[in-house]
Amino acid sequence: MSNDDRLMLRVARKEKLTDDVIGLTLVSQDGQPLPHWTPGSHIELALSLYRNGAAPASSDDVLLRQYSLCSDYRDQTQWQVAVLREDSGRGGSRFIHKGLREGDTLQVSQPRNLFPFAPRKKVLFIAGGIGITPMLPMIQQADAEGIDWRLVYLARDRSRMSLLDRLTAYDSNRIRLNGDAEDGPLDLTALLTECDADTSVYSCGPKGLLDALEGMAATQDQWSLHIERFSGGDVDTRGNAFDVVINSTGQRLHIPEGRSVLSVLRENGFKIPSSCGDGVCGSCETGVLAGTPDHRDAVLSPEEKADNDYMMLCVSRALSDELVLDL
Ligand code: FES
Repeated sequence: MSNDDRLMLRVARKEKLTDDVIGLTLVSQDGQPLPHWTPGSHIELALSLYRNGAAPASSDDVLLRQYSLCSDYRDQTQWQVAVLREDSGRGGSRFIHKGLREGDTLQVSQPRNLFPFAPRKKVLFIAGGIGITPMLPMIQQADAEGIDWRLVYLARDRSRMSLLDRLTAYDSNRIRLNGDAEDGPLDLTALLTECDADTSVYSCGPKGLLDALEGMAATQDQWSLHIERFSGGDVDTRGNAFDVVINSTGQRLHIPEGRSVLSVLRENGFKIPSSCGDGVCGSCETGVLAGTPDHRDAVLSPEEKADNDYMMLCVSRALSDELVLDL
């Protein structure tokens, strides 16, 4: 998040949506309209409080975390996100659940859309748990545009489904709730055999769900698949050592096996924006002027990866002995 485009927003409401999901409503401090955004967008929260106007002691202590906007995308008076508590995570969600209070002020990035909604004639939304968040604005848009859509909302049990109240405005025939505990596991294969070449499948949720969908998509040429991952999961950062060359200075840095490009650059004084460290947020995207990256991120499309013009420094490595970076 660059300092130039950040917003200072107030937490107008913090509400418990389920036992492990908190909803946050963010508003501007001066009543000015918030920037426009499109369905699929996320914002990045800098999780260090400006309580009573006092800045955090050290920028090193600031946690940067991305959350999908789940509110009405036409409403410029407030933004809403929903945050799942992940006790085994790196602390961002625990901070929001336990440390954040209504009235606190947060640094928030401009909305960024890495999950754009551009469907075919029909859409099947498959939301797993907190993956419902980016789906809600997409459903709003699809419904407003008269697109034939359906939602399958999956969770371990129905009590874990947050934001169900946001679905009551729609035709219930379009919506299927499936709690494993109550309904048994959903038969994804049967669900997808109903999809034809006019159907776009949009999904967000846990790694197992998205991996399964990607596997099914690869074996057919009818429906299109569009997914967003919350975490890179088991990103493998192992691989051969290589060099990176800084184009502006000619400086050469060695990236050993087991170290990321990002960590080596930081160690050498480069200020590279980053957030997730998992190859899912796009913050550390950097231009590649020569050499062949070994892309391991979930941000770039297959076409963008084939172009080799950009790479995510936190996870991606090199297939060539050297990469020249646009730094
Ligand atoms: S820090 Fe998020 S993609 Fe690299």
